[in-house]
Amino acid sequence: MDTRIIKIDPLKIDIDLLSEAAEVIKRGGLVAFPTETVYGLGADSFNGEAVKNIFKAKGRPSDNPLISHIADADDLSLFVREIPENAKKLASVFWGGPLTIILKKKEGIPDSVTAGLDTVAVRMPSHSIANALIRLSGTPIAAPSANLSGSPSPTTAKHCIDDLFGRVDMIIDGGSSMIGIESTVLDLSGEVPTILRPGEITPDDLKEVIGDVFYGGEAVGAPKCPGMKYKHYSPKAEVYIVKDIKNSQKHIEEGTCVIAKNVGALTLKNCKIFDAGVSDHDFAARLFYLLRTADEIGARKVLVEMPEEKGIGIALLNRLLKSAAGRVI
Ligand code: TXA
Ligand code: MG
Repeated sequence: MDTRIIKIDPLKIDIDLLSEAAEVIKRGGLVAFPTETVYGLGADSFNGEAVKNIFKAKGRPSDNPLISHIADADDLSLFVREIPENAKKLASVFWGGPLTIILKKKEGIPDSVTAGLDTVAVRMPSHSIANALIRLSGTPIAAPSANLSGSPSPTTAKHCIDDLFGRVDMIIDGGSSMIGIESTVLDLSGEVPTILRPGEITPDDLKEVIGDVFYGGEAVGAPKCPGMKYKHYSPKAEVYIVKDIKNSQKHIEEGTCVIAKNVGALTLKNCKIFDAGVSDHDFAARLFYLLRTADEIGARKVLVEMPEEKGIGIALLNRLLKSAAGRVI
């Protein structure tokens, strides 16, 4: 398949050019596009055949449902019969932004979007290109992260090109994703609001708006968020989460990369050191990028500083535990 790459400035959107991407969506094609979290691989949410092609392009297991993206909060009503009060509150505070809400679905949504579940996941991004693309397409856009299944999520168009060139119709280069990790997924379909995947919007942020929210960390038993059971965020190198990165010289061998904050204070030798910035927000924005870079330079081992489990650090640790297959040293 020919993949067309177009470049769009998120601060000065070329509507004519972006309309060509919307045409691809309208005729059932696949477009990779930037969002504030990570790049998504989009198709018309209401075109079941188009959505199936997302799974083929990514090599994604078909039992893993997708998030539908809307550009107007009122369009939530396209997916659910009634909107609960707490969903309205959350939407008014956090949309557009990195919060995905799961609700009981209404009829008419393709099974390929929901993987046959009786619930549906919806979010309204804050990214100018994502929202303009949805509006121009005239339909919600179902989109998982635009990576090959299993690899770190893409935060630049180059990552999408590396993974999906020749497998999708179009890739929109709109610069780097600002947040760098995927949205918080909150299940509002049951008795207790439950975080299925942590993200930039933290349990405390949600509690402030709707009161009690459950976050159990790693799910036990059958995962409710089907996607979280698969191998994820894995570079080819072996990843280790390191509690005391300053004193990790003993873990460094040939071909080791270190990803840490405040690298100026590190005195480690015989390794490549990647700068994850100063704050945990910097760390999140760079994590997937740096994991991919480690692969590009042929690293065999990656030592990543363990983030503190608070704020966005909760989400960082969640992703890192998957990248590292649980290895903490
Ligand atoms: O930030 C994001 O959420 C990005 C951008 C592109 O919006 N998208 C993203 O999609 O991360 P994806 O497919 O990589 O992750 C969606 C997660 C999966 O773990 C999936 O299992 C879960 O959401 N999910 C979707 N629908 C669900 C449902 N009805 N019930 C439970 N989990 C659901
Ligand atoms: Mg993903």
